[in-house]
Amino acid sequence: MKLLAIESSCDETAAAVVEDGKTVLSSVIASQVEEHKQYGGVVPEIASRRHCEAISAVVDKALADAGETIHSIDGIAVTYAPGLIGALLVGVNYAKGLAMASGKPLIPTHHIRSHIAANYIAHPKLKPPFTCLVASGGHSHIIEVQDYTKFRVIGRTRDDAAGEAYDKAARSMGFPYPGGIYIDRAAQLGDPDAYKLPRPSVEGCPYDFSFSGLKTAVINTIHNAKQKGESVDVNNLAASFQKAVCDILSDRLMKAAGELGHNSIVVAGGVSANSGLRARLAEECEKRGYQLYLPPLDLCGDNAAMVGAQGYYEFLAGVTAGLDLNATASLPIDCGYGEDAYA
Ligand code: KG4
Ligand code: ZN
Repeated sequence: MKLLAIESSCDETAAAVVEDGKTVLSSVIASQVEEHKQYGGVVPEIASRRHCEAISAVVDKALADAGETIHSIDGIAVTYAPGLIGALLVGVNYAKGLAMASGKPLIPTHHIRSHIAANYIAHPKLKPPFTCLVASGGHSHIIEVQDYTKFRVIGRTRDDAAGEAYDKAARSMGFPYPGGIYIDRAAQLGDPDAYKLPRPSVEGCPYDFSFSGLKTAVINTIHNAKQKGESVDVNNLAASFQKAVCDILSDRLMKAAGELGHNSIVVAGGVSANSGLRARLAEECEKRGYQLYLPPLDLCGDNAAMVGAQGYYEFLAGVTAGLDLNATASLPIDCGYGEDAYA
């Protein structure tokens, strides 16, 4: 089964053709990041406009690269939640137009589920159940993936997402948006024990995260040094911050995997590209005899191939939408399409 997949939840307009949830026949990504960089973050209104401008060409190229047409594919998967509402609406409406014109099924797909599904593409033998860490710019969760479309949230961030903490800490260090990759690079040149930074925990919730105190500690370190006329060693501060984030993420993930009794550990989302996190989790999993699955770097960030992967499993589970499909800015991962998130 070949799906055309469309993603427009944030600042990447992406389309892909994916066969049977695993084989990527094409994947096209038009990133707006250079434009948002000058504002230090994603400007939602600009994101929507750029999606409108890019989407036709991106979808056409994805179909052409795969040697397909809208008539030869079997369905259209689209990210409908969560994300920037104006950005999501562009992809959703474009997909609805294509579905109406072609008569192909329309498959609403959850963005975070898709991040996890990137791993099915990269690791064809991977099957649920497994314990998963999702760490992106908007989300940080520990999730029990019980089946391809069945999820249980074990832990979550109480404030900033891991990627958001990276981006805010990076900004205070003088790096451009999105700063995760810049901290990652600087951290490789620094001493991770140079600065003492906190590892906040949430009392009574062993799998939850809190990153805002850590982010504030970085900002305060820089501010205090400035006031005293001292300089900050950015590489050392980046390395110390990265070590703290890795300590927190790996602690919660290993605890959850132990509790759930899973041998397979999966990581997903933009922060899964982090070199320190990848190395640290490889080490921790090896110690415990766990099998670690990480997406390749080109599937860590936002893309539509992962939407084609998850969309396939949603379709197999009977999930399709009518032309009344709407976008939803926030939706828990364990809430399926058409279910009441707050029931
Ligand atoms: O999954 P993603 O592309 O978009 C969302 O769905 O949010 O994640 C983007 C996030 C940004 O916060 C970015 O700084 C972070 O992933 N990121 C990284 C790295 N590469 C991207 N964070 C740490 N280290 C990296 N190498
Ligand atoms: Zn994402």
